[in-house]
Amino acid sequence: MSAPVSQGYAASASFFESEIAIAIKGLSKSYSTDSGVALSVLRDLNCNIRTGEVVGIVGASGVGKTTFLHILGTLETPTLGTVLHFGKNIFSWSDTELSRFRNEQLGFVFQFHYLLPEFTAIENVMMPCIVAGVDRRLSRDMALEILHELGLENRAGFKIGQLSGGEQQRIAFARAMVRRPRLLLADEPTGNLDERTGEKVADLIFSLNERYNTTIVVVTHNLALAIRMKRCLGLVDGKVVELTPAELKGFGVGKVQAGRSPGALHQYKFQ
Ligand SMILES: Nc1ncnc2c1ncn2[C@@H]1O[C@H](COP(=O)(O)OP(=O)(O)OP(=O)(O)O)[C@@H](O)[C@H]1O
Ligand SMILES: [Mg+2]
Repeated sequence: MSAPVSQGYAASASFFESEIAIAIKGLSKSYSTDSGVALSVLRDLNCNIRTGEVVGIVGASGVGKTTFLHILGTLETPTLGTVLHFGKNIFSWSDTELSRFRNEQLGFVFQFHYLLPEFTAIENVMMPCIVAGVDRRLSRDMALEILHELGLENRAGFKIGQLSGGEQQRIAFARAMVRRPRLLLADEPTGNLDERTGEKVADLIFSLNERYNTTIVVVTHNLALAIRMKRCLGLVDGKVVELTPAELKGFGVGKVQAGRSPGALHQYKFQ
């Protein structure tokens, strides 16, 4: 088993505060249940996500991956511990400040995209701009720009129901990226896609990271995606551990998909 995450980072002398996108210390999360017994999901979890990193989160079903991602995205609050986003404890902020932070700095891609079916693709992508008070014309230009970059400009006027699953997922990425957030969080973005379309979404994740230096955290069961990440964290017993490629399968990550070279495993670089 790999070393706990916190030890790996303690060894790095060049690890300055400014390089940390998210600093997580002693994070615990429990839910109250009808039986009155608290369900403890995350337990004294410690880790840092560095600026510009693409990090995979893997683990068995029910282990707390979505809970963890929701806390990083401020959709849920920690029960105990601190989570600093770019050095700031945003959980102490007012609802208005928090909403602004989410809108400006954070993009979220859910497993089920939650696009609004009554609107067109471009209107969905414009939504975060409109919510932020950006005027309609500029919002449209910003949406068109990101749609163009994702190769989706020819689907701008389509209603969501007229798009394929993969196109819908890419539109969800466009919506999450339209304001160029510093942090992009994605929960099983390839979960409902076939292998080929999943690969396209994976390509998109890495190209967004390269182009904008966006820090990206992705929950995935997809081995083809996980092995492309320089860093994967496994969630187990409420804590995270750094994983080597060989350990991925033991963490509920799928088999190497047909047609992919097993050699790809050796290209995987870990900390
Ligand atoms: N709002 C809630 N109230 C009570 N329990 C919850 C709540 N949300 C999640 N849980 C519990 O927390 C545990 C972790 O859930 P979570 O959705 O984070 O798992 P996961 O790792 O994302 O699983 P999967 O791979 O199936 O999506 C589960 O046992 C779930 O029942
Ligand atoms: Mg989940």
